[in-house]
This record gives sequence, structure tokens and C-alpha cells, in this order.
Amino acid sequence: MRKLALVFVAAIVLAQSPAPFQPVGNMSQLMIDVIYPTSDAIFYVERTPPKNEQDWSVLRTNALTLAESGNLLMMGTRARDQGDWIKDAKMLVDAGNAAYKAARAKDLNAVVAVNDQLYAACVTCHQQYRPNYRTRLPEKQ
Ligand code: HEC
Repeated sequence: MRKLALVFVAAIVLAQSPAPFQPVGNMSQLMIDVIYPTSDAIFYVERTPPKNEQDWSVLRTNALTLAESGNLLMMGTRARDQGDWIKDAKMLVDAGNAAYKAARAKDLNAVVAVNDQLYAACVTCHQQYRPNYRTRLPEKQ
């Protein structure tokens, strides 16, 4: 019985010790260097539709990187809270996942169909958490 209690204590201590994550990029760097280019590959896929195995492979890589980047946003101190932030990051994971599945199936229409869902993920989080997002003046005027 005492041994069992010890195992429980050890499990609790382990569960509470900090995860071995080592964040490399800050939020802005993740957005600009990972999320922006990989999502553009999905948003603008019709401009240069994949023509061969190599093109599909690049698209798969972008979609998978984008989907997993949603998980990066939930990591440790990157998560601004455990409520809407996590929900918004999950929207990105779901949209990226749908794009990845479509790319694996080499289904261009299905990739295009993810656009609205993906756009909603970006905008929902930006409206809630990106400073000055709504107050910024439109670029073209
Ligand atoms: C879970 C929240 C979240 C999601 C989802 C999200 N972003 Fe962001 N994004 C942010 C935050 C917070 C900032 C402000 C970062 C800062 O300035 O420190 C930001 C800033 C940016 C910036 C400006 C970076 C800079 O420093 O100029 C770009 C570009 C960007 N996001 C692109 C995207 C795109 C494209 C998507 C969707 C494919 C997306 N983001 C999804 C939270 C999110």
C-alpha cells in the first residue's frame, strides 16, 4: 500500500514538472516564418496547382507544417490562456489537418475547399489576441 502511495506521489511530481519544450521562435517569428508561408501555399494553391509528385510533396509538407504549428501555439507559455486561445489554435490544427488530408489524396478541389475554414482560424484568433488588429487602417486607401 505504501509503495502504491509512493508511485502516486512520483506520478504527481512528474506530471507537474515542466515539459522539456524549448521554444525557439517568438509569436511574431512563428507567424511570419512558419504560419504565413505555409498557409499561403493553401490559400493560393489555385495560382500554381500541383502538377507532379514533387509539387504534391511540397504541398503536403506545407499543410502538415501548418497543422502542427497550431500545436506549437498551444505549447507552454505560448498559450495566452486555456480557453479561447486553445480553441482558436485548434481551429488552425483542424484546418491544417483537412488540408493535409486533401493534399495526401491529391484532391485539389478539397484543398481549395479548406480556404474558408483556414481563413476563419486566422481571423478569429487575430480579432481576439493580435494587438491593434481591428484598429489598423486598411492598407489600400
Ligand atoms: C491562436 C492564435 C493565432 C492563430 C490561429 C493565428 N495567429 Fe497570427 N498572430 C497571432 C498573434 C497573437 C499575433 C501577434 C504577434 C505579435 O505581434 O507578437 C499574430 C500575428 C500575425 C502576423 C503578423 C506578425 C508580425 O509580427 O508582423 C501574421 C502575418 C500572422 N499572424 C499570420 C497568421 C495567419 C496567416 C494565420 C492563419 C493561417 C494566423 N496568423 C493564425 C495569433 C494567431
